[in-house]
Amino acid sequence: MNFDPPPPLPHSFLSYPPLFPHRPYTSLVLAMSLDGKIADVQRQAARFSSAADLVHLEVRVAAVDGVLFGGGTLRAYGTTLSVRNPVLIEQRRQRGQSDQPVHIVWSPSGQLDPGYRFFQQSVPRGLITTLAGAQRWQGDKRFEKLWVMPAERVEPWDWPWLFAQLKQANLHTLALLGGGRLTADLLYHDLIDELYITVCPLLLGGATAPTLVDGDGCLAALAPRLQLISHQAQEDEVFLHYRVRREGK
Ligand SMILES: NC(=O)c1ccc[n+]([C@@H]2O[C@H](COP(=O)([O-])OP(=O)(O)OC[C@H]3O[C@@H](n4cnc5c(N)ncnc54)[C@H](OP(=O)(O)O)[C@@H]3O)[C@@H](O)[C@H]2O)c1
Repeated sequence: MNFDPPPPLPHSFLSYPPLFPHRPYTSLVLAMSLDGKIADVQRQAARFSSAADLVHLEVRVAAVDGVLFGGGTLRAYGTTLSVRNPVLIEQRRQRGQSDQPVHIVWSPSGQLDPGYRFFQQSVPRGLITTLAGAQRWQGDKRFEKLWVMPAERVEPWDWPWLFAQLKQANLHTLALLGGGRLTADLLYHDLIDELYITVCPLLLGGATAPTLVDGDGCLAALAPRLQLISHQAQEDEVFLHYRVRREGK
């Protein structure tokens, strides 16, 4: 399997994937064990995928205007994946994108350790939070941009409204990097368009270990249906690319 950087995309890249007028186009990118776990029962950082998967992840991150991940993910990793491959950076420049996508954390409480290496990485950072969470970061330059959810939109979290704000900030494409709680929320709101799932050759088990989609789950009759776009195997890993079907909606 070839994970070299893809050929340069024309500036019309933003016409594919199809863009929505009121929200970013989204791709979920996650690695999971064969039994669907995205981490072990200790909820540690998932470092079980191969070097090829990391290249694949970097390609996906390099393609978008912003990446979004939950506070649980930042607490597990303390870091994010920046684009380092010069070819990918050059391709971003040719598409009129900044060298790095904006790395956005969703954390209603805003309780994030300023000592995380994330805050030293050379990437623009954003925070999606509540009024109380924003107060923690007031006057702090570590986040270039705060998106603050109005109090009346917090319960339940109004993702469609928030995504409209991201779109207004010129974020047309988003990579969603987990974890399971964020995925569940966005899936519930029908805000996931594509899924890139790497199936890794291990079995983690554990009822409390996070899965691809956590939350309350949905009945099979109502579950989102997917269309397989591509599948490739490399050594013992399988790289899957699905699109969410929306026929009839
Ligand atoms: N295999 C992979 O590719 C991969 C990728 C990413 C993550 N992971 C794993 O996924 C795990 C993290 O996933 P996660 O689902 O725990 O977290 P998450 O989806 O990264 O973040 C969950 C966010 O939900 C917010 N939240 C809002 N209401 C909540 C509630 N009632 N209860 C809990 N959280 C609430 C939390 O906000 P606050 O910040 O205010 O608490 C938190 O920031 C880690 O173990 C990580 O290693 C794996």
